[in-house]
Amino acid sequence: MGVKLLLEKVHVEGIRLYDVYKREGGYRAAEKALKTMTPDTIVEEVKKSGLRGRGGAGFPTGLKWSFLAKPEGVPRHLVCNADESEPGTFKDRYLMEYIPHLLIEGLIISSYALGSNNTYIYIRGEYAWIVDILEQAIREAKNNGWLGKNILGTGFDCEIYVQRGAGAYICGEETALLESLEGKRGNPRIKPPFPAVQGLWNRPTVVNNVETLAAVVPIINITGEEYAKIGVGRSTGTKLISACGNINKPGVYEIDMTISVEEFIYSDEWCGGIKNGKRLKACIPGGSSVPILPANLLLKTAKGETRYMNYESLSDGGFITGSMMGSGGFIVLDEDQCIVKHTATLAHFYRHESCGQCSPCREGTSWMDKIFQRLESGKGKMSDIDLLWHIQYNIEGNTICPLGDAAAWPVAAAIRHFRDEFEWHITHAEEAQNRNYGLAHYADPITVVQ
Ligand SMILES: Cc1cc2nc3c(=O)[nH]c(=O)nc-3n(C[C@H](O)[C@H](O)[C@H](O)COP(=O)(O)O)c2cc1C
Ligand code: SF4
Repeated sequence: MGVKLLLEKVHVEGIRLYDVYKREGGYRAAEKALKTMTPDTIVEEVKKSGLRGRGGAGFPTGLKWSFLAKPEGVPRHLVCNADESEPGTFKDRYLMEYIPHLLIEGLIISSYALGSNNTYIYIRGEYAWIVDILEQAIREAKNNGWLGKNILGTGFDCEIYVQRGAGAYICGEETALLESLEGKRGNPRIKPPFPAVQGLWNRPTVVNNVETLAAVVPIINITGEEYAKIGVGRSTGTKLISACGNINKPGVYEIDMTISVEEFIYSDEWCGGIKNGKRLKACIPGGSSVPILPANLLLKTAKGETRYMNYESLSDGGFITGSMMGSGGFIVLDEDQCIVKHTATLAHFYRHESCGQCSPCREGTSWMDKIFQRLESGKGKMSDIDLLWHIQYNIEGNTICPLGDAAAWPVAAAIRHFRDEFEWHITHAEEAQNRNYGLAHYADPITVVQ
């Protein structure tokens, strides 16, 4: 069993309730932080921990916090990003649903560290039942003196508000989220200015992911230094992975980032191997936006080294032979899956979710979707493959927000690694339509771990 910092208590009966959470050691970190630490020492502790943002980009959290502008007399805000709409990603939902006080405790400590008296949780609209769970946890925390005025006699006031989104993926992008929170259409803002300087209602704002903010609790409990000893290199602490697709045990797992990809897929402790004894064909290791990897490049890097479940190892080889840790949405595809069909689904999603502000993304995602529909309907042409390649190439890096890149990368990686499957789809159009079938890109595990 690996180290558990976030989900250690998740199976304790009633842990959703304040009394049980408190009995199990909850709110110790909040008490320590508010009674014995200054806001600056908390920021230093988070810096020491090496914690990187768990929302996708992996930006160092302590560094982000230290950028927060502090003009005299201007309120600052902390906003928790609970939008979680990236296909394949469902770890924040798990954390909020089963151990909500961990997030609330993390928010209290972080709000104190950043000087946020009004903190917001912006949550995906479809998570309606979790809103009730969070609001109950907030009520309980307030009734027990952890929120409201003069918390623990420190003079610090804090309220937490939950705001539901309306079902747009783009509202997970931090500046679109802020627009939406202000009551406007969720269009991303041009940066700079960054939220740390002009965020919510033009006030200095930090936006962090649910898991990032929950991780502040163990950091304060065990110290940043001890947290940094868990994991490897710049992948410190633990990471939640939501695993899905053709595996025996889909679910949310907490890993300490030292295990290999192969162990994660085949060990009974984690995914339990490929379903129905099939062979592994490919995997998207970090949510739908990151490049797909064929099995041979997933289990080993291009240099033939073991690939591990951490930021550095998953991105080894860049986008040519590597991918990204991203949001931790681990999507496994077996030998029967068709890469063209799979990528077509993603292309359709990104077209639908583009906010339409910039033409490379608005037009490019639409063109890619139409070409995929042509391929899927059996009317594809060989030139469509290069056309797709050129469109994605011209989207990447040319848009206001990273949704454009997120739409381009899956298409680029699918063509890069599975070009022959695209060709087969065109030359065997009828067969491709009648059979949910792909070419044999699978790889057998190198050493099956049990
Ligand atoms: C299209 C798009 C969707 C995003 N969705 C989410 C999301 O649902 N949750 C999240 O935490 N970050 C999401 N992000 C990343 C946020 O913009 C931001 O980087 C993150 O909330 C910062 O938190 P962190 O530093 O704790 O990772 C998204 C980014 C983009 C471009
Ligand atoms: S990249 Fe796409 S989603 Fe982002 S601002 Fe431009 S059009 Fe909107």
